[in-house]
Amino acid sequence: MSDPTAQPPTPAETGVLRTLRTRLHAEVSKVVVGQEEALDSLLVSLAVGGHVLLEGVPGTAKTLLASTFAKALGLEFRRAQFTPDLLPSDLTGNMTLRDRELVFRPGPVFTNVLLADEINRTPPKTQAALLEAMQEGQVSIDGTAHPLPQPFLVIATQNPIEYEGTYPLPEAQLDRFLIKVLVGYPTEDQERSLLVMGRRGLAPTGTDQVTRVVDGNDVMAARAEVDATAITDEVAAYVTALIRQTRVLPAVAVGASPRAAVHLLVAAKASARLWGRHFVIPDDVIRVAPAVLRHRLVLRPEAELDRLTPDAVVANAVAAVPVPR
Ligand SMILES: Nc1ncnc2c1ncn2[C@@H]1O[C@H](COP(=O)(O)OP(=O)(O)OP(=O)(O)O)[C@@H](O)[C@H]1O
Ligand SMILES: [Mg+2]
Repeated sequence: MSDPTAQPPTPAETGVLRTLRTRLHAEVSKVVVGQEEALDSLLVSLAVGGHVLLEGVPGTAKTLLASTFAKALGLEFRRAQFTPDLLPSDLTGNMTLRDRELVFRPGPVFTNVLLADEINRTPPKTQAALLEAMQEGQVSIDGTAHPLPQPFLVIATQNPIEYEGTYPLPEAQLDRFLIKVLVGYPTEDQERSLLVMGRRGLAPTGTDQVTRVVDGNDVMAARAEVDATAITDEVAAYVTALIRQTRVLPAVAVGASPRAAVHLLVAAKASARLWGRHFVIPDDVIRVAPAVLRHRLVLRPEAELDRLTPDAVVANAVAAVPVPR
């Protein structure tokens, strides 16, 4: 008999999340050059019901990626520009009179994929309204709870250059985001190839060709798959040790929270599935650690003066904790 491991994988072995990944990358790359890591992060978040913060300078395809991702998934997509005058009710909705009756008019938060653009330009009250919706999965108006649609994914963007008139999100609120992606500049090759893509004036033409490549049930199936991902005591202990290590590093004033530990473990499970495995290995934890932890660490002022980045601190924590093998 031949070696069973030599057989081509059946769809069941390949897995829902891995199949989704292949299809989404093929579809989104019709319009967006590169940004694969950001796309994987969006998929991981969608698969576990988390939310993503995209940080990057203007013009790096943050909006284009978010809208293309939603289109390829066949999900409803809305965008809210977080201007200084945006009110909580502009986001959540409000009660209005219709035919002499008070009815609830839902705001843009009632969608599957919400792009919260420039989240740090709006005052704390409106930020809090969004973060509450993210946390609760519902919006309460006048004592009535209105559940948000499922799936519900917030993609918030912010510019790393903090200028006057911005309201940096407090650490407590940053902790609610599963992942923070640093959206960087494309490579030289990528930058050249995005120039030769089809375009109508300034608009990319490819968006019309982007079609839905995902079934309505696929997202829920991916969630079930991630939940069923095995985790050994050794890997759980490794996650715990890594999180606790972030709290004792000299450069860190406030380390990662217990919520961060849960997020790290769940993201590692999804990452394992992305790579076609049904169990988590320490490498999965290490792979997602920067994205899951970078926005949750408060560095000491001296560390910032030394230009130590949160990513470097995460790397130090990883280096300090023995990896179970
Ligand atoms: N990686 C890329 N692939 C394809 N097109 C790109 C890419 N990066 C930038 N572009 C082009 O730049 C335009 C601007 O991108 P987009 O509006 O998504 O940027 P952004 O990051 O949301 O910027 P801002 O922070 O100003 O909102 C796109 O419509 C596209 O034409
Ligand atoms: Mg944008």
